[in-house]
Amino acid sequence: MLANIECKNGLLNWLIPAKLDRSYQVQCVEPLLEPANKALLDAGELCEQRLVVIDSGIPALLCDQIKSYFSTHRVTATYLTVSGGEACKNFQALQGILEAFAAFRLKRKMEPVIVFGGGAVLDIVGFAASIYRRGVPFIRIPTTLLAFVDAAIGIKTGMNFGRQKNLLGSYYPPLTVFLDRNFLIPLNRRQFISGLAEILKVAISCDTELFEMLERNVIKFKTQDLFDAHLGEILFKAIDITLSQLAQNIYENDLYRFLDFGHTFSTAFEMTAASMPHGEAVALDMNLSAILSMHRGFLQREDFYRIARVTEQLGLPTAIPDISFSDIWNSVDDRSYHRGGHQRIPIPARLGQCVFIEDDLTPQELTDALKEFGRKSWR
Ligand SMILES: NC(=O)c1ccc[n+]([C@@H]2O[C@H](COP(=O)([O-])OP(=O)(O)OC[C@H]3O[C@@H](n4cnc5c(N)ncnc54)[C@H](O)[C@@H]3O)[C@@H](O)[C@H]2O)c1
Repeated sequence: MLANIECKNGLLNWLIPAKLDRSYQVQCVEPLLEPANKALLDAGELCEQRLVVIDSGIPALLCDQIKSYFSTHRVTATYLTVSGGEACKNFQALQGILEAFAAFRLKRKMEPVIVFGGGAVLDIVGFAASIYRRGVPFIRIPTTLLAFVDAAIGIKTGMNFGRQKNLLGSYYPPLTVFLDRNFLIPLNRRQFISGLAEILKVAISCDTELFEMLERNVIKFKTQDLFDAHLGEILFKAIDITLSQLAQNIYENDLYRFLDFGHTFSTAFEMTAASMPHGEAVALDMNLSAILSMHRGFLQREDFYRIARVTEQLGLPTAIPDISFSDIWNSVDDRSYHRGGHQRIPIPARLGQCVFIEDDLTPQELTDALKEFGRKSWR
């Protein structure tokens, strides 16, 4: 019997309970593609066949390992390659993915789609999975550092629309996420460094200890050896903090999110400077936000220097690309729509803690911060 409420005028209202447990797992399994390791196939009721989506940027050797894993286990796998990078987050790619789902005749709950890729491919395939037959299960395996520490482990999917990033999308948890550092070995320097920005974001916005670990080990990141004990510790600490932040607010009902730090002005940088990786745009935003905070008297100048130094030592960019002020200001406007009509810009109050600019950032204040950024007096 449904709980119903009688209205004053004698007409009935019904309350239909609709709670859904959307728990999901993030598991470190290394090496995932070891033939003896069945974790990937055990996630799913049937395992005779699988649709496997592969980011086109994954080197051939790794693709061969993926294919040989499935053939060793006598799984009939159908492979779909999706062109990696931001350009895949559009309707055309979405349509191609949905057509592949339909051609494969996915069994609705039993054959999770498996996707290997960077954040962009994970976002668009996750979006497709969330709308195909009103939702089919999917498994994420991140193959870039940024996806490893951020894009793969949450529940957001997305695609760009018009000039706006992630305007379309869904909250749709994967069945499971498999983390394996072996997939990150082929990343080139720029892709690797882009991922470091999201680790730095977590450190500045949420955890002083992580920031200090980064400071102590910054030089080691040049090796890109994430199996190194110290770098591994940093990596998994960043993931742990991110997941605890996400778990408290998984559907983003609370729009005051520390993890939004670095994601206000960044959309302008990455949508305007077309080839700028996400992490580079986040790094520029973090430094700009830190200057705003310093000007407002929150962040100590010495702490701002520490942020700027680590940014530079990690190899992240420190010069804003040549874009117009109005593009940057429009990103504030756009984010305000996204944040319930308020600016709500996270800025570091001190290392490991954010405060929010609620609504009073003015074009003049932003201009002054950009001037300081341009002077690079802190270098
Ligand atoms: N859903 C979320 O919560 C979330 C969070 C953060 C970022 N994102 C999204 O993630 C995207 C950025 O992700 P990204 O930084 O992974 O970039 P990306 O997905 O654009 O990938 C960068 C490049 O790396 C290539 N690549 C992938 N794996 C590789 C490998 N193992 N070796 C060599 N090259 C490889 C890709 O083909 C691409 O050319 C953005 O679209 C951003 O909006 C989503």
